[in-house]
This record gives sequence, C-alpha cells and structure tokens, in this order.
Amino acid sequence: MKEQLIEIKKNILDALNDVKDLAFLEKLEKKYLGRKGEFTQALRKLAQLSGEAKKEVGSLANEIKKDIEKKFVETRNNLEGKTDKKGFIDVTLPGEKIERGHLHPITLVQRELEDIFKKMGFMFLDGPELESDYFCFEALNIPYHHPARDMQDTFYIDHKNEKGEFDLVMRTHTSPVQVRAMLKYGAPLRCIAPGRVYRCEAIDACHEHTFDQMEGLMIDKNISLDNLIAVMKELINGIFGRKIETRVRPGYFPFVEPGIELDIKCTICGGTGCPSCKHSGWLELLPAGMVHPNVLKYGGVDPNVYSGFAFGLGFTRLVMMRYGIGDIRFFNSGDLRFLEQF
Ligand code: DAH
Repeated sequence: MKEQLIEIKKNILDALNDVKDLAFLEKLEKKYLGRKGEFTQALRKLAQLSGEAKKEVGSLANEIKKDIEKKFVETRNNLEGKTDKKGFIDVTLPGEKIERGHLHPITLVQRELEDIFKKMGFMFLDGPELESDYFCFEALNIPYHHPARDMQDTFYIDHKNEKGEFDLVMRTHTSPVQVRAMLKYGAPLRCIAPGRVYRCEAIDACHEHTFDQMEGLMIDKNISLDNLIAVMKELINGIFGRKIETRVRPGYFPFVEPGIELDIKCTICGGTGCPSCKHSGWLELLPAGMVHPNVLKYGGVDPNVYSGFAFGLGFTRLVMMRYGIGDIRFFNSGDLRFLEQF
C-alpha cells in the first residue's frame, strides 16, 4: 500500500509540473483528489488495515496528502500570477498605465483659430445641425425654387410643411448661424461658429458627406471689404505662423454682395504648381463677402445703418493642408492608426 501511495504522489507531482492552464489543473485535481479520485480511493483502503500498519501508512498518507495539496496551491497561484507571499504588494513596480484620450485634429486647429479670433473680440457660437429649411436657405437669400439651391447637395429630412415643401435639412453649411446670431444678439456683432455640415456627396479622397466649416460674421457701422481682408490676413498668418501670400477673386454666393474667394499661395509647392493646387500655384481657402442687405433684414438688422462681412472657412480642408493629410475620409473613420498621430 505504501508503494502505491508513493507511486500516486510521484504521478501527481510529475503531472503538476506540466500543467499549463487552470482548466487542466482542475481536471487533475478531480482525477486524483476528487471523491472518486485515485488518491482518495487509495486512502479508503486504509480502513482495511489494522494496528501498527494502519498507523504507519496513515501518517505517510497524511504527509503525502499535505505535499500534494501544497503543490496544487502553488501551481494554481503560479497560473493566476500570484506569489506565495500572500497579500504582498511591490510598491516600487510602475503603476498600471491609464490610457488617456486626446483631441481630434479638427478640435486642435479649432482651438487655435478660436484663440486668434478671441484676440479680435469675436465670440464663439453654435448652431443646430438639423436645421430648418428657412435658416439654411430662405433667410440666406436662397428662396425655395431658386437654382442657387443646386450649389449644395442636400440631405432633406422626410418632413414637409403645410405647403408640401421639405422644411428640415441637415445643414449644408454653417451660414445659418449668421441669421440666428443677428436675431439673438442684434448689431454690432462679431462671432465665429465652427461646426459640422452635411452634403449628399459621392465620397472620395476630397469629398465627404460630413465635414467641418467655420462661419465668421462681423457687423457694425461702416464695415467694408478692407475690414474683411484685414481679418482674413490675420487669420491666415495666425494659422500658418508666417506671412502667406493671398489673392482675392470675385465669387458668387447668394447671401453676400459682393462675394469673393480668397486664395493662398500653395503651401506645398510655394506657387510653382503641383497636384495639390491643380498646378495653378494657388489654393482656394476662404469664400467670403459683404453680407447681403436682404440677409441683414432677415436678421432684423437695418441695412441702412449697418453693414457687415461674412466668411465660411473650409475647416476640414484647412486641417488637411496644415498636417499634410491626403484623404478626407480619415477624419470620421475612427481609425486609431490615424488619430494617434496627433
Ligand atoms: N456657406 C458657403 C458654402 O458652404 C460658404 C460661404 C461663402 C460662407 C461666402 C460665407 C460667405 O459666409 O460669405 O459654400
């Protein structure tokens, strides 16, 4: 019987040396120490012995049982990553690293722009992304059947007014904030309104259905194109941290008169021509203009007393130029390989 117990102990210890996971450990525990386990069965035979033999084998069996149980505990602790010094904490080990998030590149540049405009006395506003047709177009001098609506591919929401016209839209630009701001704050007024806009675009490296713009509006007495261009230059030099050559072209937008397009010398090739500037040496950056008298009226501002300028910065495009990002689809992809670079 002694030999049998010693043999079982050897088998158990050998088996425990090869255990690689908890599931296997539990199997072994059952196989040897369970109610019908080999070791348990062997112990039962002790009852059949008598006298001296029972004493002798009994104490050996006890010793073996303790050794086996100790080995089981040790093996379990090792597998669970515990040390045998129970409750010991090594305070000199580096702590568990807590992953911290960080700001999206759009937010990073937005904050820089806000700093530039804060210094010029502009306030920051927000507007609804699900906008009424009225603020998105009508109050910006684009009536319901006007062809200028075709300039922006639009996501209408399946909701119509009493005239049977679609009256809710995912805003196609941040310009609706102009009229909302005038109605709320009156004149004089200086504000910027960064935010998301939506267009029903065919998506490629340069086009997305969701992107960011930043609207700007300044209204006061005697505001002229000179003021607009001065503020634009302040903005561009602030963003790029150096003087950038600019040019102004006429542009058409129903809510400004006159309307302009402000271009910058290509920051990639310096003006000699490259694929980024379609070999023209210039990049379109800022559509802008003098606020149309009709729009002032929609905002409750008297065009005979006040004038103003507005601009609509293609914000996503600017961030792409700033960081040299070649594909607009990265911004909303949620791809950490992209995001972790900022
Ligand atoms: N909202 C126009 C667009 O998304 C951009 C724009 C042009 C905004 C001229 C303006 C502006 O404020 O004056 O195409």
